[in-house]
Amino acid sequence: MRDAVAVWRDWASRPDAVVLDGFHAVKHALRFDAEVGVVVCADREAALALAGALAPELVARLAAELVVLPPDALRELTTHPTAVAAIAVRPEAAEIPRTAPVVALDRPRQAGNVGAAIRVAAGLGAAAVLTSGTLDPWHPTVLRGSAGLHFALPVRQVASLDGVAGPLLAFDAGGTDLRTATIPDDALLVFGSERSGVSDELRARADRVLRLPMRPGVSSYNLATSVAMALYHWACHRAAGSG
Ligand SMILES: C[S@@+](CC[C@H](N)C(=O)[O-])C[C@H]1O[C@@H](n2cnc3c(N)ncnc32)[C@H](O)[C@@H]1O
Repeated sequence: MRDAVAVWRDWASRPDAVVLDGFHAVKHALRFDAEVGVVVCADREAALALAGALAPELVARLAAELVVLPPDALRELTTHPTAVAAIAVRPEAAEIPRTAPVVALDRPRQAGNVGAAIRVAAGLGAAAVLTSGTLDPWHPTVLRGSAGLHFALPVRQVASLDGVAGPLLAFDAGGTDLRTATIPDDALLVFGSERSGVSDELRARADRVLRLPMRPGVSSYNLATSVAMALYHWACHRAAGSG
């Protein structure tokens, strides 16, 4: 046990270390080939039963790698209800393919929103998720919100969205109805911060400003919900047979 905690601490000292808090984050990280240091749990049988139900293909690997920790030791590493956690490292930055839209979150503030946006971006096959501003998109709370799907596509914090190529489509309640538009595969889809929306600079740079339909009286949608609707629109209208 002491060895597993020491191994965890060694991995945690790496600058690219990330904590996978909960079974779902561990599951997706393993599925999408994350480099994982150590996987810990409170109850081996319970963790393997969860794997059997949710990720049977990972049972053998987890059976070989799971380390059981006593409650006090585990509590220092995770308080997730599944009592499973792992330490991993962020993948190296790879080139972003421009065959599907890149989602850009302009100064997001809430970790849960960023995690949910990454989750839907991974699910619908976006090319990447970029964030500007101070929120670390690899924070454990964001990873928990994405259920570990950070490992399914590039996720990067950028100093600015200025240099990112592609038709820039900004999402704002004051724009043109999305239902009259199509989203090109190489688009950069920009969503604004929960508090202040898309910055004036990005709005000025936008090739189009698009609105998600809302009935009168509704001010705006949640950030992650907006990402989901935009990507779903893209997925529904892209060339048949391309995904
Ligand atoms: C919670 S909203 C921000 C609301 C903010 N008070 C504002 O002034 O825009 C977060 C982001 O979700 C997207 N969004 C929300 N509702 C939208 C809508 N009806 N049409 C297009 N984008 C929307 C926008 O990108 C927005 O910046």
